[in-house]
Amino acid sequence: ISAPTQFPPGFLWGGATAANQVEGGYDQGGKGLSIQDVMPQGIVGPRTDGPTPENLKLTGIDFYHRYAEDIALFAEMGFSVYRFSIAWSRIFPGGDDAEPNEEGLAFYDRVLDELERHGIEPLITLSHYETPLAIAEKYDGWVSRDVIALFERYVRVVFARYGHRVKYWLTFNEINSVIHAPFMSGGINTPKDELTPTDLYQAIHHELVASALATKIAHETDPQIKVGCMVLGMPIYPLSPDPNDLLASMTADHANLMFSDVHTRGEYPGYALRYFRENGIELQITEQDRELLAAHTVDFVSFSYYMSICETGDPARRLAGAGNIMGGVPNPHLPASEWGWQIDPVGLRVILNQFWDRWGKPLFIVENGLGARDELVESADAVDGFTVLDDYRIDYLRAHLQQVGEAIADGVQVLGYTSWGPIDLVSASTAQMSKRYGFIYVDRNDDGTGTLARYRKKSFHWYAQVIATNGATL
Ligand code: BG6
Repeated sequence: ISAPTQFPPGFLWGGATAANQVEGGYDQGGKGLSIQDVMPQGIVGPRTDGPTPENLKLTGIDFYHRYAEDIALFAEMGFSVYRFSIAWSRIFPGGDDAEPNEEGLAFYDRVLDELERHGIEPLITLSHYETPLAIAEKYDGWVSRDVIALFERYVRVVFARYGHRVKYWLTFNEINSVIHAPFMSGGINTPKDELTPTDLYQAIHHELVASALATKIAHETDPQIKVGCMVLGMPIYPLSPDPNDLLASMTADHANLMFSDVHTRGEYPGYALRYFRENGIELQITEQDRELLAAHTVDFVSFSYYMSICETGDPARRLAGAGNIMGGVPNPHLPASEWGWQIDPVGLRVILNQFWDRWGKPLFIVENGLGARDELVESADAVDGFTVLDDYRIDYLRAHLQQVGEAIADGVQVLGYTSWGPIDLVSASTAQMSKRYGFIYVDRNDDGTGTLARYRKKSFHWYAQVIATNGATL
């Protein structure tokens, strides 16, 4: 008989968003363009030369103007934490400007004021798929070592301004996704099929060094600050018990684990060095880089979790599945979302245990959720007159949170859980509005029409209850 799920006292409950998916105001308050402003179809379509009207991210869900209303709704659900990102291009519009943009800084002061008023702890991502476009175009993004200094300039400004009031920080969102989405994740302008493995891994190295540097600056600003790395978490199962399938899954897993191995252990693991050697990847790694990586490891590891995949050593069975930036071989045992992402609550317990056993650092689940089409229906009982009966979302989240409880019972230290997109937002991979994750429905459609009005879904009340009971009423 399993005991009721026990979440520790002080467990942080909330939701997560990214600036480029909610804010809008892409040209307001002195903001410069970010790479997202030229990605009207997310990663599934081509980029454009400049902003185009069909790009939903330009206006997002207008969080730039409605943040107070939205944060009040988060507070109504009882959030103790809200994860959001700072748009780097609001602070340094041209990427390499000498001085920061005061209007951009003032916007995040106001957001933080609002959170403080409601007693919600901020959790800030420094870079969430929104590199200033100028950095992509002038420097080829993280391929250039110069970008470390530009990031340092940004980070110093941000910590000086907000470091005294924000305890939890993340450096790069899903840092491992750069292998699959170099433009969106690393601001790398060179088309993916022309990018050499050496340039790709040099870019990764620069990000890892920049992450260590940000951790150093954070701790110098205030030793109480906790900095986490952020990875796209996805268990990779062997497709069959064939040892070659297990080996293939282990190798695929290494490609992801390397990022947190460096972040937590301060050096490249042997399997990565072998991969570089055998693939002719020669990296420029300075003595100073090595010292930074070794001396400034992260305080915690955070990750997103949506799905698992399989891997096989047999090319004939290596079918490509859909999914969270990475794809992967589909698992015959699992159902999938409407977008083909395979649903695997147990995988969350698996990965929590794997990460805890491997690094022994506190873990933070900073994204998890179901992207689904919702129908807004009239309801006399609903406070807003309309609601969404999203039992499918409740079922998904409940099943995942139960597995978080199991992992906690296994002894894993989990700091908190922020569901992805507590309010509907523009999707990262497909730039759609119809792929909704929220507890709050936003009246906006894929063609850009809609009033932007907010409505509480059924899951809003369910999540409020989960938080109020610290997970006891899952
Ligand atoms: C993660 C990203 O990959 O997954 C988010 O960090 C993203 O930015 C989320 O929105 C869900 O993906 P999508 O493509 O459904 O928006």
